[in-house]
Amino acid sequence: MSGISVRGAAKVYAGRHGETVALEGVDLELPEHSMTALIGASGCGKSTLLRLLGDLEQPTAGGVLVGGRPPHELRRQGRIGVAFQDAALLPWQSVRKNIALSVRASGRKVDWAEVDHLVRLVGLEGFADARPGQLSGGMRQRVSIARALAVRPQLLLLDEPFGALDELLRTQMNIELQRIWLEQRSTTVIVTHSVGEAVFLADRVVIMGARPGRVVDVVDVPFPRPRDAELMRSAEYHALCDEVSARLAAAIGGEEAAPSAPAAAAPAPVPAAAGVGA
Ligand SMILES: Nc1ncnc2c1ncn2[C@@H]1O[C@H](COP(=O)(O)OP(=O)(O)O)[C@@H](O)[C@H]1O
Ligand SMILES: [Mg+2]
Repeated sequence: MSGISVRGAAKVYAGRHGETVALEGVDLELPEHSMTALIGASGCGKSTLLRLLGDLEQPTAGGVLVGGRPPHELRRQGRIGVAFQDAALLPWQSVRKNIALSVRASGRKVDWAEVDHLVRLVGLEGFADARPGQLSGGMRQRVSIARALAVRPQLLLLDEPFGALDELLRTQMNIELQRIWLEQRSTTVIVTHSVGEAVFLADRVVIMGARPGRVVDVVDVPFPRPRDAELMRSAEYHALCDEVSARLAAAIGGEEAAPSAPAAAAPAPVPAAAGVGA
């Protein structure tokens, strides 16, 4: 059981220069085995929300339940897989050992066959004994995803895992992530700045707004799976991306002086206009 229920969640950070309301009044119901994308301007609380789900921070109001229980329990059982943006791998350890580390940290015995399976799953066959310094950025990110998957997570939390990758590699990784997710079916929440990535991967796209950070809009993505590169070239895909972009722009535009709004905040076409071209 790993459906997510967030009720009236708030997070206020107390800092030297006063308080930051990172999240306020967040309500969210995400079914078990679902794939959700979180999207929104920088600073709107996406990472904070992910940290609440992962029991890495506690809400200052409201509550978070995973499978009807506080996420703390799931974390204690080592069933939450987390891959955050800056893939912190141990530089002196091999790919295999870096992956195994998360299993050890969760207090379980390492199944090396399983680790090798994950190495293959994320397409790093032949690099199992390489050190992180011998890998490209994209490969390192795949190691951190494998590490998150190694605990057989019921809840998988990915914070901009492909943010540093070029478009082509990102597309490959999106297809790979979907394949892994179809195999493991962890309830997954992924933070991304890319509307295209969100629409490609997710069952639903949750659009957040800032000041205070909150959920502004939710867009369901109806495309059947497995989704492939062909989908990314289709008119339906582009139309839905346009729609999400428009709603994201509305979410950001609804605030005075949003800080460092992403490029997607540029005037977006009306949803009715069918997306064309790339
Ligand atoms: N540990 C922290 N202490 C104080 N403020 C924080 C902390 N973490 C995040 N914040 C603030 O909370 C807000 C939301 O941050 P974050 O969740 O990182 O947003 P996002 O991931 O959407 O960019 C920002 O204003 C940020 O500066
Ligand atoms: Mg963030």
